[in-house]
Amino acid sequence: MPFPIHRMRRLRASEPMRSLVRETRLDPAEFILPLFACPGEGIRREIGAMPGNFQMSVDEIVRECAEVRALGIGGVILFGLPETKDETASGAYADDGIVQRAIRAIRREVPGLLIVTDVCNCEYTSHGHCGKIVDGEVDNDQTLEWLAASAVSHARAGADIVAPSDMMDGRVAAIRHELDANDFAHIPILSYAAKFASVFYGPFREAAESAPQFGDRRAYQMDPANGREAMREIELDLEEGADMIMVKPAMPYLDLIRDARRRFDVPIAAYQVSGEFSMIEAAARNGWIDHDRAMLESLTCIRRAGAQIILTYFAKPAAELLG
Ligand code: PBG
Repeated sequence: MPFPIHRMRRLRASEPMRSLVRETRLDPAEFILPLFACPGEGIRREIGAMPGNFQMSVDEIVRECAEVRALGIGGVILFGLPETKDETASGAYADDGIVQRAIRAIRREVPGLLIVTDVCNCEYTSHGHCGKIVDGEVDNDQTLEWLAASAVSHARAGADIVAPSDMMDGRVAAIRHELDANDFAHIPILSYAAKFASVFYGPFREAAESAPQFGDRRAYQMDPANGREAMREIELDLEEGADMIMVKPAMPYLDLIRDARRRFDVPIAAYQVSGEFSMIEAAARNGWIDHDRAMLESLTCIRRAGAQIILTYFAKPAAELLG
């Protein structure tokens, strides 16, 4: 018998052959690009640790969204930098809040582009925590009211999907209830179900100016060490009425994307967070890694692990390369 009989290299011999047997493909329609809306006009302020990403005024966001749509990218997720922050996160649920204004403008000027909104309070509170502070702690149940009010105000402005990222218990049920009570029964919830207290959010907090002024988020976001607990979080959010769930961050948590894909038959999203993006950018800028290949490999592997939807700061350059 000649040896070896099995030659795995046969199917790797040329690009057409590799393409024929490729198991995972990327489609820009499954990318969502995070955008940061700020007050003013004509403002496009680059975020230091996130080259190619900007704090943008509403007019600039609209321009950006037109490009995003032209590239065939699935949608955008909006974060807001309000004029002022206060103890009650009032900018999060104000009808004329920064995100609400951005939604209305995108809806009007760029029809057909999916608008997702991040539902959270940390960008709007003076202390930078994701909820109401009572006796020095983030109070779970009192925060639910703000979250539900934010979700309704986003839906009223024209959001297609609301995505709570605060990690309060019971927020999905509270949001579902309030949406339904306000004639928004048709608006789906994409829950950041398994969201970890991760160091990889560092650059985002510069972008969204949302770093907590005291303490950290470990009393509400998950411990990176816990995988089984992540499945329980997802299960509970689905019971409360989440339509889609998210694992966040993505690349250090591929095992959980895979576990979730095997256990739950709902669309699964993964958030390739700011730190994941910035590490690749920084290494590429130093000449230590090939930018485009690192970008596409990271996205492909997140997809392969089982995420269908990928929230990524690479959405535009990746869509351009994918043609
Ligand atoms: C809001 C929120 C955060 C991110 C998404 N939504 C920051 C945080 O939880 O501290 C992080 C996204 C990123 O790092 O790209 N709570």
